[in-house]
Amino acid sequence: MSQVTQMITPQRKTLGVRHLLSVDDLSDADIQMIMDSADSFLEISERPIKKVPALRGKTVGVLFFEPSTRTRISFELAAKRLSADVVSVSSSGSSVEKGESLKDTVRTLECMGVDALVVRHPSPGAPYQVTTWSDSAVLNAGDGAHQHPTQALLDLHAIRGRVQDLKGKRLLVVGDIRFSRVARSTISLLQRMGMDVVVCGPPTLLPPDAEAGMGCRVSYRLDDELPEADVVYLLRMQFERQDKSFIPTLAEYKRLFSLTTERQKAMKDDAVILHPGPMNRGIEIGSEVVDHPRTLIEDQVRSGLAVRMSLLYLMLGGEEHAASH
Ligand code: NCD
Repeated sequence: MSQVTQMITPQRKTLGVRHLLSVDDLSDADIQMIMDSADSFLEISERPIKKVPALRGKTVGVLFFEPSTRTRISFELAAKRLSADVVSVSSSGSSVEKGESLKDTVRTLECMGVDALVVRHPSPGAPYQVTTWSDSAVLNAGDGAHQHPTQALLDLHAIRGRVQDLKGKRLLVVGDIRFSRVARSTISLLQRMGMDVVVCGPPTLLPPDAEAGMGCRVSYRLDDELPEADVVYLLRMQFERQDKSFIPTLAEYKRLFSLTTERQKAMKDDAVILHPGPMNRGIEIGSEVVDHPRTLIEDQVRSGLAVRMSLLYLMLGGEEHAASH
């Protein structure tokens, strides 16, 4: 492109990846671009009229083969706020219940002309498989215990809003890390931002590769770790993925690992608490801790919508399309 053309044609902003399957696929520049445009979309979500025409004429298919409240609604609303059309398929109430395969569901949507497919599935790798059957941009909304890239990005966005300069700060992840796709994705992204990560839980719920593979320090004692943490990330027990009992009793788990008001007092004054939801109040988090001003659960929901708008915008339209309106 000549220098003159470059001056009159604004550089179209798009991600370096066509699909979002894992946070590890994103470059540093991609992450920065997603955060910057999420900041603008957060501002749009605060206006009285929250809709922009950026993706008018585009169609987003939302395929959920596992239960979900916030992720599904957040993706649907993100697409609608950008003026895209949305079609939603969930495993209950659709032909999936009649035995239709994932491939046939994807091909059906593809024939109807979708531009993006948001996929949640209990099998790790299912969103990757979808990319081989479809020409659409595929966004992984959680695949088994593998990855949940939009959760990691929204967590980063919510933390950036409260914690200055993440480099050298301590992230403490507590609970069922072994079965958590959120832990896998969020730990990897926050380590890239320079955070130092400690995973804490009963030995049976920590992944065997936590130290050697994931680069985390392992701890079994929450009370020793809380005073040093800048960000405390609590996880739900993923009972649906556990094929046997991994803890002796829930009462013992609560006694050792629940973030109660009493334990919260041991935290630094400016430390923040995150939880991806859905929460089990009274198990991993004390009910009063949920409503504490240093708990960012509602920020996470707001950032989730903004980050998903940002991703759909950057993957489907970008500035070129927006500029034509
Ligand atoms: C998480 C998920 O589905 O992995 N929730 C979410 O996306 N909001 C965490 C969980 O289910 O515990």
